Amino acid sequence: MQVAVNKAAQLKAKPDEKKLGFGTIFTDHMFNMDYSIEKGWHDPRIEPYTALVLAPSTMVLHYGQGVFEGLKAYRNQQGGVQMFRPRENFKRLNASSRKLCIPEVDEAFALDALKQLLTVEEAWVPSEPGTSLYIRPTIIATDPYLGVRASFTYRFFIILCPVGAYYAEGFNPVKIMVTKEHVRAVRGGVGDTKTPGNYAASLLAGDKAHKAGYTQVLWLDGVEQKYVEEVGAMNIFFVIGDELITPSLSGSILPGITRDSVLDLAKTWGMTVSERKISIDEVMDAHAAGHLKEIFGSGTAAVISPVGALKYEERVITVGDGRVGPLAHRFFQAIQDIQYGITQGPRSWVELV
Ligand SMILES: Cc1ncc(COP(=O)(O)O)c(C=O)c1O
Repeated sequence: MQVAVNKAAQLKAKPDEKKLGFGTIFTDHMFNMDYSIEKGWHDPRIEPYTALVLAPSTMVLHYGQGVFEGLKAYRNQQGGVQMFRPRENFKRLNASSRKLCIPEVDEAFALDALKQLLTVEEAWVPSEPGTSLYIRPTIIATDPYLGVRASFTYRFFIILCPVGAYYAEGFNPVKIMVTKEHVRAVRGGVGDTKTPGNYAASLLAGDKAHKAGYTQVLWLDGVEQKYVEEVGAMNIFFVIGDELITPSLSGSILPGITRDSVLDLAKTWGMTVSERKISIDEVMDAHAAGHLKEIFGSGTAAVISPVGALKYEERVITVGDGRVGPLAHRFFQAIQDIQYGITQGPRSWVELV
């Protein structure tokens, strides 16, 4: 399939790269493609970024049948543009789609279409340290219909947004709070997919954590509320003694690409790595025994987010000395260096545009 290109007659003024926030500025163009049962995925096109015109009855608005992804394009050392493991994002998009009864896209084609969009929008990839162009592929159910069933039609779009350095004010630890009142996802549900409802379902607990003075919620499993699952919208790691531990993918945890990269690097560095169940009691006991060295989250937005304090029921513990731990720092630096083309990393992790 050929991607048709219809360029905008007028281009927007580029923002000040030193003042980029997150998720508010969008580039001149977007990618669009439609699905119908008769034609399959068809009419791929790059066209000016514009509002979607949707009937109020559009299915995604009522039943949440939608999936999305989040990845970034980086300005590399040589002045070119590169992405970090984008094939994994399209693979995960399809995995999410399968769970939401959405027709899959051809991953190689979608990556190629994204590269074409990035080529058109090359000038939007910022070069200030820590900045990047955030990429949001999304698929929504578009039938104008009320009634619970899978839609017969869909729109796949990709939008781009220049974003600032996540750690503009320094690489600082966050305070997190365990919730036992709410759960994010359950086994057999859709916690391992990127679907809008998961994020809507996390808002109330997040709001309560913020009001209590904490940045993120530490989610426990939805069955026993005993085992740690994720932190905010990130995967989570613990360093206990010499063991690097992250919860195993139980079906309710999003299989993060940063998580996978941390595990891969840790193994390359000869560390003891465990993907296993870890209970909140084990974490608290390890702290009491003086073995809990570090906790950090992992995800595309922040890469690594060190945790300085954790609240569980009435207890608040300081992790390590409350500052950024050496491993959090090492993973952050190593992954960022690969993303910005400062170092090579495993060959297939970097995709040049
Ligand atoms: C719920 C959730 N967990 C984990 C992650 C981290 O995944 P990744 O490392 O692929 O960004 C994300 C962000 O994408 C997320 O939304």
